Amino acid sequence: MKYRTCLLLFSVLLITLLIITATAQEEAPPPMIPPKAPSYIVSCGATEEETGDDGRSWQPDDKYLNYTGEKPKAAVAAYQDPNLGSAVPFMSARIFEAPGGYKFTVPTDARVMIRFYFYASTYGDLDAANSYFALTVNGFQLLSNFSASIATRALTQAYIMKEFSLLPSPSGVLGVLFTPSADYKGAFAFVNGVEVIPMADIFDDSPPLLGLGDQTVDLTTYGLQSMYRLNVGGEVIPPANDSAGLRRTWYNDFPYIFGGTDGRTVYKKDVHYPSEYVPESIAPRSVYTTSRSMSEDPAVNRKFNLTWVFQVDANFTYMVRLHFCDGEMTRANQRPFSIYLNNQTAQHTADVIAWTGGKGIPIYKDYAVYHSDKNGDDLWLALHPNEESHPEFVDAILNGVEVFKLNSVSKRSFAARNPELSAMMSRHEEDVRKKSFGYSGGANAHVIGAIAGGVTGLAAVVVVSAVVLHKKRRTVGTTRSGSSSNWLPLYGNSHTSSKSTGSRKSTNSSHLSTIAQGLCRHFSLQEIKHATRNFDEAKVIGVGGFGKVYKGVIDGTVEVAIKRSNPQSEQGVNEFQTEIEMLSKLRHKHLVSLIGFCDEDDEMALVYDYMANGTLREHLYKGNNPPLPWKQRLEICIGAARGLHYLHTGAQYTIIHRDVKTTNILLDGKWVAKVSDFGLSKTGPNLNNQAHVSTVVKGSFGYLDPEYFRRQQLTEKSDVYSFGVVLFEVLCARPALNPSLSKEQVSLADWAMQCQRNGKLEEIVDPLLKGDINQECLKKFADTAEKCLADAGIYRPSMGDVLWNLEFALQLQENPKAAVVEQKGEEIGGGDGGGRRRELSTVDEEVSVLMGDDTDESEIFSQIVNPKGR
Ligand SMILES: *[C@@H]1O[C@H](CO)[C@@H](O)[C@H](O)[C@H]1NC(C)=O
Ligand SMILES: *[C@@H]1O[C@H](CO)[C@@H](O)[C@H](O)[C@H]1NC(C)=O
Ligand SMILES: *[C@@H]1O[C@H](CO)[C@@H](O)[C@H](O)[C@H]1NC(C)=O
Ligand SMILES: *[C@@H]1O[C@H](CO)[C@@H](O)[C@H](O)[C@H]1NC(C)=O
Ligand SMILES: *[C@@H]1O[C@H](CO)[C@@H](O)[C@H](O)[C@H]1NC(C)=O
Ligand SMILES: *[C@@H]1O[C@H](CO)[C@@H](O)[C@H](O)[C@H]1NC(C)=O
Repeated sequence: MKYRTCLLLFSVLLITLLIITATAQEEAPPPMIPPKAPSYIVSCGATEEETGDDGRSWQPDDKYLNYTGEKPKAAVAAYQDPNLGSAVPFMSARIFEAPGGYKFTVPTDARVMIRFYFYASTYGDLDAANSYFALTVNGFQLLSNFSASIATRALTQAYIMKEFSLLPSPSGVLGVLFTPSADYKGAFAFVNGVEVIPMADIFDDSPPLLGLGDQTVDLTTYGLQSMYRLNVGGEVIPPANDSAGLRRTWYNDFPYIFGGTDGRTVYKKDVHYPSEYVPESIAPRSVYTTSRSMSEDPAVNRKFNLTWVFQVDANFTYMVRLHFCDGEMTRANQRPFSIYLNNQTAQHTADVIAWTGGKGIPIYKDYAVYHSDKNGDDLWLALHPNEESHPEFVDAILNGVEVFKLNSVSKRSFAARNPELSAMMSRHEEDVRKKSFGYSGGANAHVIGAIAGGVTGLAAVVVVSAVVLHKKRRTVGTTRSGSSSNWLPLYGNSHTSSKSTGSRKSTNSSHLSTIAQGLCRHFSLQEIKHATRNFDEAKVIGVGGFGKVYKGVIDGTVEVAIKRSNPQSEQGVNEFQTEIEMLSKLRHKHLVSLIGFCDEDDEMALVYDYMANGTLREHLYKGNNPPLPWKQRLEICIGAARGLHYLHTGAQYTIIHRDVKTTNILLDGKWVAKVSDFGLSKTGPNLNNQAHVSTVVKGSFGYLDPEYFRRQQLTEKSDVYSFGVVLFEVLCARPALNPSLSKEQVSLADWAMQCQRNGKLEEIVDPLLKGDINQECLKKFADTAEKCLADAGIYRPSMGDVLWNLEFALQLQENPKAAVVEQKGEEIGGGDGGGRRRELSTVDEEVSVLMGDDTDESEIFSQIVNPKGR
């Protein structure tokens, strides 16, 4: 009897629970208005109000301080890392040598978003390397035994930012308490900046907890730590462009894609934002305008998962918020797919149009998963087409993803261990300490720099040497199997050595970060030897600063360039590792790609795409090659512009190439342009547009930005200048510098500009192009090149604008009439189906499609008329 009552009660409870869960999931979150409450933007240790490079004013922290005993002291950082982007709030700090903190008045009924900024520098006689501390807010443990110095180095960031969305404080007070770690003698706490922003409750639903039956997680009872926030398939969205004043940063998702199978990205301007499912506080519009989907080939898509991998702390529950907005489909069952988290099914059938009821309507979905020790360090998110209902397309889509850590209930804590410094970084740091940054070397030496006093992270400026060389003699037009499709079976490839397939952390490559390993294929020495016929001298296609470059063949047919490190050079080993770390995270159709690496028995080798057609220069002049037709030259310029645009905007950091020239634009067997030899230079997580790096002048004469030369300040506009020279070089088929000519003609940049201004440009156009160039096209092309060569960086267009203009020039070349129609802003193309078809055929090989076919052409035109920055 008793048993039955119990059972009955239990069933009732269960049913109630189910109903609650179901309704919670069915109902769209009600629109939420951010509470009108003051935000705090505090520069700790500052003496007066300061304006950051982001234009915001940061308050001094004095009036919020809460302490007993001696007043915590203010300090100034010894050195400003150029990658910080802004001096405020990083250059001043508040030091807590005893427990102390801040007190903020907050609304009693609203969540607050709180951010802490830590810049691990030297503050007076205190070195951040000796700082270990705990941080609690209203009794919630946010950090414990935290070392900003270790985190900075392990993550190779200039600074560390920690962001939390905390539950409302009924007392109306937010008590922030820093406690130096008792385990270390002389340990202290420090903080550079604090932001407190009352927010709308955007965490009020109950997502399912995977793997635990019908269990859900009631987010209204949790604090959340933001781990990752990505604008999938789109650019970095800086804090100023975030919605609802939350000032979040949305990064590009590319570095988190597993295995190099990154599908295609799509931009759709028309988005019904905000929607009934997505109030503004959830995410800014830009998140929903860009997306990533799978490849164009259904057969390929069936075989792989579009996968993102996130490094997380074990023993916590994570909430993964996925943002969707399908701007291509119009009906249900066109593009259904399944969603997996940590290899468990999160959503059997995800059909964005079925969810939203229409094209271009944003929606988001939350899922929770407990990540135990057994899951390792990585949280996996995978999408796979679901063909059960025989849909129209075999595809999947994602627009944005956020990963949040939920506080542990038992401990009311978010705290995890300090990240481990990869062995590669430790070795590198050891090296820097020993040699105090003394790399010698000529043009090909890597410079691992920006490290002063060993306090900053490895915010390095890496100059990568020419990596992919080419054969002197070759038959023009030799085809080879397209390398991009060979990206597909990266991991678990049967050709891959058993070591790497079994475990991603083979002992051999233990000094590489998990992400680098995940993104790169690991080759055994055996495979490399096989590929190069045991390093056959006859296969050498070039000699770099630290070893030979061989042409090789992998997987039976794929031609590659293999750079072997000189085994005698310890220095070389470090540089190789750095190169893998950096390059593995950059993948784009128009960048020379690192396919993989070998690290075995003291032998290191890097494997790159083989560029069958060599450099652009030798197809313009100085090479006995048939002249390239104009349209092909234009397409090569567009490809190179796209590669550079990606470096500038697509990655987490703005990367400045620093040595753009025709010998660094390589051509593969299909004449696709690929930018090589990137002087990788991180300029910090896109804090603002003014970010620049001061460095010694590097680059090639004839291409050098005069402003860079004068002020030694590097911005992405330096690349734009050099690219302008490349454009003229392509048009005129002569070197950037030709000392054998008369004085006024020596520099192509000067000479071409002079001719352009005098309307005599046609006289210096490559005679071999006679009759090949359409007049409108020539005008557009020359105007673009001219703007690139503007004396001051601010008057030069961005690489994105250059790209638009070149695309436009190509249209003018192909169909001058159509282009005129477009100039008037009339729509071309047509309905959805047509648009999609067109995209399927043209976008095929495009890894990064920054302009979808929905782009309003009149906007392009207005951008041309009124370039940004004027
Ligand atoms: C202020 O600091 C004191 C100790 O210094 C602490 O007891 C008190 O809780 C703090 N106030 C808040 C709101 O955290
Ligand atoms: C951010 O906003 C500014 C001003 O509205 C705009 O010019 C810029 O393109 C935006 N950037 C991004 C990445 O959305
Ligand atoms: C996770 O929990 C298990 C069991 O309690 C423990 O052995 C392990 O060390 C924890 N891992 C981390 C990273 O805290
Ligand atoms: C995709 O991921 C799921 C979950 O991990 C797995 O079961 C499935 O086999 C994967 N599919 C492919 C084609 O890799
Ligand atoms: C998911 O599956 C992949 C292989 O398909 C494996 O490498 C990974 O460790 C798995 N992840 C988890 C969290 O179990
Ligand atoms: C604190 O962190 C350091 C560095 O990660 C670690 O070596 C040490 O064991 C930690 N101490 C405690 C008490 O957890």
